[in-house]
Amino acid sequence: MGQTVFAGKKIVIGVCGSIAAFKVAGWVSELAKEEAMVSVVMTASATEFVTPLTFAALSGNNVHTGMFGTGKEDVMTHISIGRDADVILIAPATANVIARLANGMADDLLTTTILATRAQVLVCPAMNSRMYAHPATRRNLQTLKDLGYGIIDPESGMMACKEEGDGRLAEWDTVKEHLAKSITPQALQGHKVLVTAGPTREPLDPARFLSNRSSGKMGYALARSAFRRGAEVILVSGPTALPCPPGVTRVNVQTAEEMYEAVLTHAGACSVIVKAAAVADYRPEELHEHKVKKENIDVNLLLAKNPDILLELGKRKKTGQLLIGFAAESRNLAEEGLKKLRKKNLDLIAVNDIGGDNTGFEGESNQVLLVSSSGTEILPHTSKLHTADLLWERITSLLMQSPQKA
Ligand SMILES: Cc1cc2nc3c(=O)[nH]c(=O)nc-3n(C[C@H](O)[C@H](O)[C@H](O)COP(=O)(O)O)c2cc1C
Repeated sequence: MGQTVFAGKKIVIGVCGSIAAFKVAGWVSELAKEEAMVSVVMTASATEFVTPLTFAALSGNNVHTGMFGTGKEDVMTHISIGRDADVILIAPATANVIARLANGMADDLLTTTILATRAQVLVCPAMNSRMYAHPATRRNLQTLKDLGYGIIDPESGMMACKEEGDGRLAEWDTVKEHLAKSITPQALQGHKVLVTAGPTREPLDPARFLSNRSSGKMGYALARSAFRRGAEVILVSGPTALPCPPGVTRVNVQTAEEMYEAVLTHAGACSVIVKAAAVADYRPEELHEHKVKKENIDVNLLLAKNPDILLELGKRKKTGQLLIGFAAESRNLAEEGLKKLRKKNLDLIAVNDIGGDNTGFEGESNQVLLVSSSGTEILPHTSKLHTADLLWERITSLLMQSPQKA
């Protein structure tokens, strides 16, 4: 559900002779499913690992393996492939191709295509950890960085050679985010943003807590979308099962009081704060050191009020800083939203209709009503990532109108 950033984008994937080439077949399949137009260029060594037929079938396009074809459309392939590419991804990038690119060589179709393109080139190194640690490889990668190539660092772990260390091809989730970033206008470049997500847990004893149904998916989607737009993103997150989105700095918290501390520590340096977390309003007044026995539980649980983080942020808001809130409401969405907007000094509030089908908590999709001092706007019922994209578009317009950077 919702649009994908890759739809209609021309993505060239250069595959080199590494054992990790088979993983990239899966990536091509994912991109094709997301309606990208994928062209694959393989080095001669790469064809020893995976057949061109595999990539042709998965991409739905011809695979390019040589420079010297004589067919009409083959003669200038080295120029034409990169000419209208939105981005070129070299994955897996061997030590050999990295060395050749660092020296400006153009002795096969892939390296020649790279020299002839104006598109951004992302490089995903994959190799044995000693090859990766070799000073020549380190120098070559540094040279590529200096030349403006994007390097997606490999990960650490067990490799095909049964050795452990740095050099394992980056995971698809990471590469996908860098690819998405490379084709997204960098409207938040130079901005530091703070996003909060998830529920908080308010402990009663070491085994029990009060919490709520927030999954964190909306806040995580907001963090992901902000990274794609070029922001430096801090995600203050309550407990969720979600992995940290690539490129995002996550600060884990449990309770509302911990979230209050973490948010106020980072808020001052941020130009935009989006509070998507469902912070518990109350906590058990007493925290028991040991598990309370069933027979000793007081059925009248006394509660204490938690700090109101959004209210505090509204009071401390700096000139030019934008503060965006979320509200979960089951009726009178516009009035409740406007009330909260004014009370907490917000620039925009996204109201979730928690009475609706498939909106709000836990699900993959959402529909929010945006309320600001200039009116209301209902966003379409769509994926949480697409909702996040639309929200950042609105926030970007507000940033352009705001008096000065925070
Ligand atoms: C089984 C096997 C696995 C290999 N895996 C890698 C690898 O992961 N990374 C790498 O840089 N080279 C690897 N190599 C070495 C490259 O295939 C070799 O350097 C080749 O010349 C690379 O050609 P290319 O860069 O034009 O694709 C491997 C070789 C073999 C035989």
